[in-house]
Amino acid sequence: NSRLLEAASPTTGSATVEAARAPLHILYGTQTGNAEAVANDAAAKARALGFEPQVLGLDDVDIARFAVMEQVVIVVSTYGEGEMPDNAHLFWKALNAPTVPRLEAMSFAVLALGDTGYDGFCQAGKLIDTRLEQLGAHRIAPRVDCDVDYEAPAAAWIDGALAALPDASGAAPAPVAAVQPAPGATGAWSRRNPYPAVVTEIRRLSSAASSKDIRHVEFALGDSGLTYEAGDALGVIPVNDPGLVTALLARLQLRPDVPVAGHERPLGELLAATFEIRTPSRDLVMAIEARANDDALTHVIRHGDKEALDAFLWGKDVLDLLDLNPAIAFDAEAFVGMLRPLQHRAYSISSSPLAHPGHVHLTVAAVRWRAEHRDHGGVCSTFLADRVGLGGAANVFVSANKSFRPPADPAAPMVMIGPGTGIAPFRAFLQQRQATGASGRNWLFFGDQRREHDFSYEDELAEMSRGGVLTRLDLAFSRDQAEKIYVQDRMRENGRDLFAWLEDGASVYVCGDASRMAKDVDAALHEIVGRHGGLSPEAAADYVDDLRKAKRYLRDVY
Ligand code: 2AM
Repeated sequence: NSRLLEAASPTTGSATVEAARAPLHILYGTQTGNAEAVANDAAAKARALGFEPQVLGLDDVDIARFAVMEQVVIVVSTYGEGEMPDNAHLFWKALNAPTVPRLEAMSFAVLALGDTGYDGFCQAGKLIDTRLEQLGAHRIAPRVDCDVDYEAPAAAWIDGALAALPDASGAAPAPVAAVQPAPGATGAWSRRNPYPAVVTEIRRLSSAASSKDIRHVEFALGDSGLTYEAGDALGVIPVNDPGLVTALLARLQLRPDVPVAGHERPLGELLAATFEIRTPSRDLVMAIEARANDDALTHVIRHGDKEALDAFLWGKDVLDLLDLNPAIAFDAEAFVGMLRPLQHRAYSISSSPLAHPGHVHLTVAAVRWRAEHRDHGGVCSTFLADRVGLGGAANVFVSANKSFRPPADPAAPMVMIGPGTGIAPFRAFLQQRQATGASGRNWLFFGDQRREHDFSYEDELAEMSRGGVLTRLDLAFSRDQAEKIYVQDRMRENGRDLFAWLEDGASVYVCGDASRMAKDVDAALHEIVGRHGGLSPEAAADYVDDLRKAKRYLRDVY
């Protein structure tokens, strides 16, 4: 990692006698591991500057302990629409409790990670940054809010924040700057240097009559040396739909081989593999509004709220926006200048390497919709479902999710709640427990629309039930009867047993939709604990917080 090695050269003068320096704490709040990786990068740089940093998850820090820290660097991501990542939940609660201590002795800096494609961009970082200031802590470097391409701004921010620490000048350079590669990517393969993995199997899990198209996709890891664990995600770098590229070029009346100033590759290649051409950027929406003379768009931008704009944009892609008015024209530079870089998509891995050595499996819902009289498809899901093909290769890397693992104790029970493609990591967990002969009981809640069409991995689950590794399976097929039945309904029906499992030390895992399912499941969990534990709502909330603290309530939600 050359970026880190560069920074490892000492920037201060001669190695002086070590003064007593306040310890440096580098704290992270992470959902998928990126913020943790940045925190580890920061620690490597800090060590090279002579600090002895301690890296901790925000929820691993008790508030009383936090209150006496003098030098604190926080890297925190935001997930969903402006929410705290799961491992910052308790920390944020404590910062807002009436009993929170003042933090006058603390120097701090916050780096926020986020995605401008969502509402509440970097909200978690903004909230923590503001709250620490309110509590009297001293901000030593301005917060930086990073978009999805966070590496360069994060590296620059780390250098600035470390230099601004009160004890930075007294810091002696470390004798040997041994920089470890950041976790979050294994081996040499990373987001910037992905491995072209060959597809060795693709099959449909949902039937042709399903309203969904769920695929099982297997990749060979060949001699890449890529390793992963059950619970990790696979980053897949998609290639755009060539049909959409062709249609865009035709609409713009530009040739694919036209050069684009500032880029080495011609326009056609940039649209195919470098830029996001499905979801329009904010800049592009504004530029089109200025040119389109479209009353509806102008109205939602000038007079509407965010929701009205979202409703207008819903289902429309870049081409749909250009088609609002045939007179809209851009040259190649102007057009490319308004596109966001094409991002990888992370999929929860659905295999255990112990069960499938040298291979990695994904469970992918191909996203398709009809809008503006055209068929549309999700960028990466249709790349995997329709375009890579058997024997084709996709650029991938492993994105470690170190906190999302089966219980360390093989005898501990686990409860897994994973409707839809949320089943993915639990297939991996079950395979792992089977392969290791773990004795703990395993209970899976799975659901989807219709049993006949949407029962992913039905045969495998039946086999695991027969073999004994899947102790209990509860199913919620929402559309097989007049009233909707969801996984949380099955949890409530079996609340007494579920609570007994918790009392026996079970860990609870949730994977799938964050915006509705995970919230409803969380509410059901609280209710079950309250009812069957005979606890008040407040005491039930404390019980669930204790589960979080003990890392027995873990979520992989998106
Ligand atoms: P539905 O589409 O019939 O509403 C996987 O997508 C399953 O999750 C489907 O059965 C879907 O049901 C269901 N689902 C939808 N909203 C949900 C929610 N808020 N909580 C739990 N499951 C939900």
